[in-house]
Amino acid sequence: MKIAVYGATGYTAGLVIEELVRRGAEHVPVGRDLSGLRPAFRETAADLRTASLDDPARLAAAFHGCDAVINCVAPFVLHGEPVVRAALAAGVHYVDVTGEQYFIKRVFDVFGEDARRAGVTVMPAATDDGFCGDLLASAVAEQALGGADPAGRTGVIEELTMAHRLVSGGPSRGTMRSALANRDMFASGGLGYADGRWRTGGPARRTHVAFPGDEKPSPVVKFGAPEVIMIPRHVPVRHVEGVTDAALIAALASVTPELVENTPPGPDEERRRAARFTLLAEAVTGDGRRTRGVLEGSDMYGTTAVTAVEAVHRILADTPAAGVRTPGECFPAAAVLDSLAPHGVRWAVE
Ligand SMILES: NC(=O)c1ccc[n+]([C@@H]2O[C@H](COP(=O)([O-])OP(=O)(O)OC[C@H]3O[C@@H](n4cnc5c(N)ncnc54)[C@H](OP(=O)(O)O)[C@@H]3O)[C@@H](O)[C@H]2O)c1
Repeated sequence: MKIAVYGATGYTAGLVIEELVRRGAEHVPVGRDLSGLRPAFRETAADLRTASLDDPARLAAAFHGCDAVINCVAPFVLHGEPVVRAALAAGVHYVDVTGEQYFIKRVFDVFGEDARRAGVTVMPAATDDGFCGDLLASAVAEQALGGADPAGRTGVIEELTMAHRLVSGGPSRGTMRSALANRDMFASGGLGYADGRWRTGGPARRTHVAFPGDEKPSPVVKFGAPEVIMIPRHVPVRHVEGVTDAALIAALASVTPELVENTPPGPDEERRRAARFTLLAEAVTGDGRRTRGVLEGSDMYGTTAVTAVEAVHRILADTPAAGVRTPGECFPAAAVLDSLAPHGVRWAVE
């Protein structure tokens, strides 16, 4: 496979390119100008391509001959959309590493028909939490409602809560830039789903969550988690919300331009490997039955590189229906989550 990486000079893009190389895939670094690209790729014989975001024709041309593009810009709410449009114009599949709810929702709202017409799959938020969280929710729905085929399920989940816990190894500068551009979203708790509508504001329905290994439930607050936007597309559910601990929301909601500038490009390898994440998906059906999925991993940036490349690989291998799609909608949840075990991802549905 030959994969273009837009924003190739960035921290996450570097890890994505390492993962593409590890899997024997050809990569095409694309960035806004050669002054950044050349020093970053001095050691490789890579086919470097340049295109700024305000030149749609050149941007689409930069993706010609590739099977897919992985978009690694930051922030996505400001710079993500031209890359989606260019992928559609070039007729190549599109995957990204965003964690920004409003951007994800916009991609689903705006590009579905264009993607179907172009015959390509667009999959935003193929990250450690977006990709794994959506697949975990799919596995939980399968257990709660029965049937591996989402189309064949009967019944509805009353409430699905996605709880996140992070032990951060330090954010990248691009993550901080994205947090700054989405500060109000994070401060308000982001979007939740209720009876077919998107809601902002208001407290979380769940106030406490029992994370694995804890003696007692911990207090949580509403969190604009990426997979909240994706789950209602393939899981029959009345309410979906993300929650996390108040300290993470306080950190995301208080990012300033000075903090962004003082953040290093990204955590070094030791700090990356010390980082941990836990995702919980808790479903309650109308009869009060509870089903709980737990997923644990480490190194959020390294895992995101793996999940983004895995998403592209699966799109090319499984050829899901064209359109804007989620991982849980397209891929067998258990098999894909199991395939992440060599990268330290463990999961179970209880
Ligand atoms: N789980 C998650 O949610 C998760 C995990 C990993 C990453 N991410 C997200 O991934 C994104 C990238 O993070 P990062 O730390 O890798 O960022 P980064 O190191 O700052 O890289 C950003 C890239 O975007 C490019 N860029 C920025 N503005 C541009 C513009 N106007 N035109 C063209 N290119 C532009 C930069 O190019 P120049 O070098 O030319 O400036 C750079 O290549 C962030 O949004 C982050 O939140 C999310």
